Amino acid sequence: MVVTNSVLIAPSLLSADFSRLGEQIKACETGGADWIHCDIMDGHFVPNLTFGQFIVAAAKKVTNLPLDVHLMIEHADQYIPEFIKAGADVVTVHQEAVYHLHRSVSLIRSLGARPGVSVNPGTPVSSLEEILPFVDLVLIMSVNPGFGGQQFIHTIPQKIQKLRQMADKLNPGLLIEVDGGITPETIGSVTNAGANVLVAGSAVFKYENPGEGISLLRKGISG
Ligand code: DX5
Ligand code: ZN
Repeated sequence: MVVTNSVLIAPSLLSADFSRLGEQIKACETGGADWIHCDIMDGHFVPNLTFGQFIVAAAKKVTNLPLDVHLMIEHADQYIPEFIKAGADVVTVHQEAVYHLHRSVSLIRSLGARPGVSVNPGTPVSSLEEILPFVDLVLIMSVNPGFGGQQFIHTIPQKIQKLRQMADKLNPGLLIEVDGGITPETIGSVTNAGANVLVAGSAVFKYENPGEGISLLRKGISG
């Protein structure tokens, strides 16, 4: 996977206009997005439903950008092969939603995708100590998962700092992704704390041209 920017922006399709999904993904690509974030919700682990592997496969047809699949679902092992077959490059499971985290992460890697693990706002990063050497990415939720457009939880930068310190010892190449309430106003606080992949839904797709939202986020990083 070619990484061009040191801080990666991953627009979340959750806030896209699904009646013209292909066009919106293309506009993200030309507007400077690094990854495309796909939020998969099952109505059990989170109180909302979104889409499955067919939409991921449709996205794959229109972009060469890595597809970053965030599984907010129970029984993830049952679906991981389908998502990877559909074109997922990064697959992230929730620490709170799988029983055998190491098994899920190993399954993702064995099928050729990069594994990630996500934690909800109430889950401490100390719970990730044992899994850290086995993942490429940790996704820190900065809102309670389920919906776009929620407010950023202000204690998250401290949590990111803690994780960065742990990663320096256990997995120095770890990508730290942050998801929820990322705007030009909040983005600097998480990149300063050590995050390097930023998911943004409403802050990107509220603009007719998503590229505008992406540029404003990049400006927010540099202050
Ligand atoms: C929330 C999802 C996020 C969401 C972010 O459960 O995981 O990816 O789309 O949306 P914003 O950026 O609007 O908070
Ligand atoms: Zn997400």
